[in-house]
Amino acid sequence: MPQDFVENELLRLREAGLYRTLRRVDGDQGPTLLLDGREVVNFSSNNYLGLANHPALCQAAKAAIDRYGCGSGASRLISGNMALHEELEAKIAEFKGTEAALVFNSGFQANTGIIPALVGPDDVVFSDALNHASIIDGCRLARAKIVVYEHCDMDQLQRGLQEAPSDGRKLIITESLFSMDGDEAPLKEIVELAERYGAMVMVDEAHATGIYEPNGAGLIAKLGLGERVLVQMGTLGKALGGFGAYVAGSKALRELMINRCRSFVFTTALPPAVMAMGIAAIDLVKNEPERRQVLRRNCDTLRSGLRGLDYRLGASGSQILPLIVGDADACMKFSEYLLSRGVFAQGIRPPTVPPGTSRLRITLMATHTHEHLRQALKAFEDAKESRIADRG
Ligand SMILES: Cc1ncc(COP(=O)(O)O)c(C=O)c1O
Repeated sequence: MPQDFVENELLRLREAGLYRTLRRVDGDQGPTLLLDGREVVNFSSNNYLGLANHPALCQAAKAAIDRYGCGSGASRLISGNMALHEELEAKIAEFKGTEAALVFNSGFQANTGIIPALVGPDDVVFSDALNHASIIDGCRLARAKIVVYEHCDMDQLQRGLQEAPSDGRKLIITESLFSMDGDEAPLKEIVELAERYGAMVMVDEAHATGIYEPNGAGLIAKLGLGERVLVQMGTLGKALGGFGAYVAGSKALRELMINRCRSFVFTTALPPAVMAMGIAAIDLVKNEPERRQVLRRNCDTLRSGLRGLDYRLGASGSQILPLIVGDADACMKFSEYLLSRGVFAQGIRPPTVPPGTSRLRITLMATHTHEHLRQALKAFEDAKESRIADRG
C-alpha cells in the first residue's frame, strides 16, 4: 500500500535513533518550565534575555489587540500592511543602523525567501557548512550553484570565490553566532573577501541579536561592519522574546524584497500584537544593558563549572554551550538523565547537527539564578559519577 511509507519511515527513524517527540509545556517560558507536568530548570530556550514573558511585551501585545484587533486580514501587499508593521520596521532600521528594514513572518520564511530573491540558476552561493536548515533550503530554492565551505574556513571560501565564474552573481551567507555551536563567524574576513571578489554578503543574526554590546543590535554592529553587509537578517523570536523576523539593509533592498520575495508576498501579514511585542522588546534591549551583563555572568559561571568537571565544550564563548557527546543515542540518554534530575538540556542529533556530533545544546538565560546554575552543575557532576556522561 502506498501509505505504508508513513509507518515504515517512522520505523526507520526509530531504528536509527532519530525519532523525535514533542514535550508539552504548561505555563510560561521562564528559567523554569512546567514540562510534561514537572517543574524543571530550563537550559533549552532561545529566550536568552528572559523577555518572552516580560510585562512590557505582554502589555504592548494586549494594548495592540485592544486597538487593532487580532488578525491582519491579508498579505502586506493587499490590505494587511498596518501602521504597526511600518513602526516596527523603522524601529529595527534604527536599532541596526540601516536605511530600512522589512519584517517577515519567521526566520525560516525570511531565509527561504531572501536568498532566491538575490540569486538564481546562473549564480553561486557560498554557504558555511554549519548554516541553519532555513539557509540551506533557501539556497536550494534559489537553484543557484551551492558551494559549501568548511565551518569558518576562510582559505576554502577564498578558493571557491577564485574559482567561481566571473559572470553571474556571488553571495556569501553565514550566521554570525552559530545556533548549535555558539561560536562566531569571522565576519571581518568574510566581508574583506567579498569585497575583493565582488560578492554580496548576507548574515543571519538570529542568535546574535540582543546579545552583543554596545546596544544589543548584533555582531555586525559590534564590529562596525553594517555598511559592508548587504543583508542583515535576524529574528524577533529568540532574545527579543516575541515572534517573527526581519531583514535590515538599504531602502532598495527592502523594495526588492517587497517585489521579489515569495515568502513575503504570498503570506498573511503578522498580526498587530506581534508587531507591538517587537517594538517593546527593542526598547528593552537598547535601554537595559544589565540583562546582557547578567547573561554573560551566568555563561561564565556555567562554562567554568562544566570545564571544572572536565566536560568537553565546543569553542563557544557565548550563551550557547555545546557539550559534545558524539553518539545520538548516548546523547539522548544523557539528556534524559539530566531531566530526571530536574535539568532540561535538550539533546541535538542529526540532521540538525552533523553525524557523530550529537550534543547537549545548553543555553543560558539572564533570568537564571545562582541556584538554577548550582542545580545544573550538581546534575552534571552526578552524571560524571554515574558514568552516564561517558557512554558516547
Ligand atoms: C540561525 C537561524 N536562522 C533562522 C532560524 C529560523 O528562525 P524562526 O524560528 O524565526 O523561524 C533559526 C531558528 O531556529 C536559526 O537558528
